[in-house]
Amino acid sequence: MKAIIPAAGHGTRFLPVTRVVPKEMLPIGAKPALELIVDEARSAGADEIVLVISEGKELIRRYFEGQSDIRFVYQKEQKGLGHAVLQAEVDDEVLILLGDALVLGCNAAKEMVEFSRKHGDAAVIGCERVPMEKVSRYGIMKTEGDRIVDMVEKPTPEEAPSDIAVAGRYLLPAAIFGYLKTQTPGKGGEIQLTDAIRRMLAEYPAYAYVYPGHRQDIGNPEGYFNALKAFYEND
Ligand code: G1P
Repeated sequence: MKAIIPAAGHGTRFLPVTRVVPKEMLPIGAKPALELIVDEARSAGADEIVLVISEGKELIRRYFEGQSDIRFVYQKEQKGLGHAVLQAEVDDEVLILLGDALVLGCNAAKEMVEFSRKHGDAAVIGCERVPMEKVSRYGIMKTEGDRIVDMVEKPTPEEAPSDIAVAGRYLLPAAIFGYLKTQTPGKGGEIQLTDAIRRMLAEYPAYAYVYPGHRQDIGNPEGYFNALKAFYEND
């Protein structure tokens, strides 16, 4: 199993510090947040980790360079999460851990792998329940039991089939890359990972796993503050 950590976004919600320091490199304790995510991928069983970065985020490369299980790829244009993941194509089952989504309180990726093994190695999407007024910030699932039957990227509360949101972690078969290659732009004109997974559902079963930890979006000052607070209070 491989892991891909997209960390190419510009960090506009955290300017001006992100002119120099990528948001993923902000410290949680003495480690950059991104290192906690790399640790999560390793302990979930990933034997190679691909970090997707962009020009201006070389600090990430400098920090992790020389670690034998890590390689770097560049996303040269900001064409969306699906496009970022495609730059890192691997020919194996893949864990995708969003570089700005820190999960504290559990090892979400590891739990998802264990869940998948109990369900015939199916795809698993890490989820959290969100207030209905916030569904438009997330990919939202339609489920039957745990099984995902449909997904929609950033719906309005009226369109949303549930309050179960994609929360920064995915375990997908290598087949996802085929779907990403033919994926047309969706919400915001971007190549959406959600849309490619949605097409994949017809051929590959996928399950929603609501992990017990808390996801913090460290891409903005408030989320980062919450992550620090959670880290020092109980993790
Ligand atoms: C991305 C995904 C979305 C997901 C969210 C949080 O959105 O496109 O489906 O719910 O991450 O994991 P972004 O926050 O990059 O806009």
